[in-house]
Amino acid sequence: MPGLLSLQLLLSILLPLTIFSNAAKVGDGCLADRDCGAGLHCDACGSRCSRITPIDPKTIGKELPFNKYSWLTTHNSYALAGAKSATGSDLITFTNQQDTVTSQLKNGVRGLMLDMYDFESDIWLCHSFGGSCYNFTAFQPAINVLKEIQVFLQANPAEVITIFIEDYVRSSLGLTKVFSASGLSKYLFPLSKMPKNGADWPLLSDMISKNYRLLVFTSIKSKEASEGIAYEWNYVVENQYGDDGMKAGSCPSRAESSPMNTYSKSLVLMNYFPSDPNSTAACAENSAPLLSMLDTCHNLSGNRWPNFIAVDFYKESDGGGASEATDVANGHMVCGCDNIAFCKSNATFGTCDVPPSPPPNASNEPGSSPTVPAQKSSNAYLLGGSPQSTWTFKLMSASAILILLC
Ligand SMILES: *[C@@H]1O[C@H](CO)[C@@H](O)[C@H](O)[C@H]1NC(C)=O
Ligand SMILES: *[C@@H]1O[C@H](CO)[C@@H](O)[C@H](O)[C@H]1NC(C)=O
Ligand SMILES: *[C@@H]1O[C@H](CO)[C@@H](O)[C@H](O)[C@H]1NC(C)=O
Ligand SMILES: *[C@@H]1O[C@H](CO)[C@@H](O)[C@H](O)[C@H]1NC(C)=O
Ligand SMILES: *[C@@H]1O[C@H](CO)[C@@H](O)[C@H](O)[C@H]1NC(C)=O
Repeated sequence: MPGLLSLQLLLSILLPLTIFSNAAKVGDGCLADRDCGAGLHCDACGSRCSRITPIDPKTIGKELPFNKYSWLTTHNSYALAGAKSATGSDLITFTNQQDTVTSQLKNGVRGLMLDMYDFESDIWLCHSFGGSCYNFTAFQPAINVLKEIQVFLQANPAEVITIFIEDYVRSSLGLTKVFSASGLSKYLFPLSKMPKNGADWPLLSDMISKNYRLLVFTSIKSKEASEGIAYEWNYVVENQYGDDGMKAGSCPSRAESSPMNTYSKSLVLMNYFPSDPNSTAACAENSAPLLSMLDTCHNLSGNRWPNFIAVDFYKESDGGGASEATDVANGHMVCGCDNIAFCKSNATFGTCDVPPSPPPNASNEPGSSPTVPAQKSSNAYLLGGSPQSTWTFKLMSASAILILLC
């Protein structure tokens, strides 16, 4: 009897460890992030381990122009759920993301959308109406987040970050001052070297070696002349954001942008998030519909894959999510394959390592649309076994332990 008791005790300790082991793969059940393997998180969408970090395209190569890579981008990167305003007020406004900019960067986010306002004699990250910031919509001074970016760029000398500023700053040289104060000026990609008329950007490897690792775009045209900050719409096309940008089969440009198929702008940004941010809805939206829109926008952007894929709640999805969309775009641009996971390093463009046949139901995306080939939803089987087989394995391990102990 004491033997049985200690066995029960042992099992009660071992079983949870076995079931939610650190080796848990995409699609496995989980209760918290720590139950999932490296690079995975426990998705609130379905309590399954899912991947949030795109495959780093630099692992395949850095010798392409910057505009031949795709980067995961967060819409309103600073609007953190549960945050309190640094003014001390409660925030009464939308939130769009669930982790800090530092955490986003660690998870592979490389495009940040920041709304900047003059506020409290400083520049703040804020949501607002009519171009003004209020205590209850003001998140924090912009310098805090810019310093987070500076720390990341310093610690990661091969990383390139792009900031899209929705710019309401009217104070004289306001942006210049806050970027200098944050220590970011030395990383800025010079305006004079930005390609006009649709030419390719410099090679990613050159940008890294020259330390031109921060691209900043403003939405105010006059700042190109007054502060040397690139006016976004001279270089980038963007589709419509919000609900109007989520209609299947269409990819209209937003009002400020040239049409999506304008080749004289060499960067393409795809927005895919609703007008009212909703983390529950993001589970479905950041899955098959996002991949489908990626295809649509590619076709309607002059057959160009987006360089930036901007979403709300980038961690949420029922399947491969925004990271998979980024991998798909990078696959096409970097190696001519349907997913960067299929690229071989230094191989001829179009030489792909496509896994022979995906096991049934490898993808956990319900309602996966027939316009999205199965192989595009394949990271689940690339990164781990099916949920069933893993669970079987764990049960077998548990039984083996039991038999050994008896
Ligand atoms: C807004 O916050 C500031 C502190 O940042 C405070 O001084 C001010 O009184 C607040 N205004 C209102 C209307 O609450
Ligand atoms: C958020 O999305 C979910 C799922 O689509 C929906 O049930 C819910 O009503 C939405 N919440 C709001 C506030 O719109
Ligand atoms: C995009 O174009 C390709 C090639 O013409 C076509 O096969 C595909 O169905 C198109 N996708 C969408 C979503 O329109
Ligand atoms: C790919 O090419 C680069 C540069 O030519 C080289 O440094 C690297 O070792 C190669 N990688 C492989 C896997 O052959
Ligand atoms: C795949 O999953 C769906 C729904 O979960 C199920 O109806 C279908 O039978 C499964 N197919 C295979 C081949 O297991």
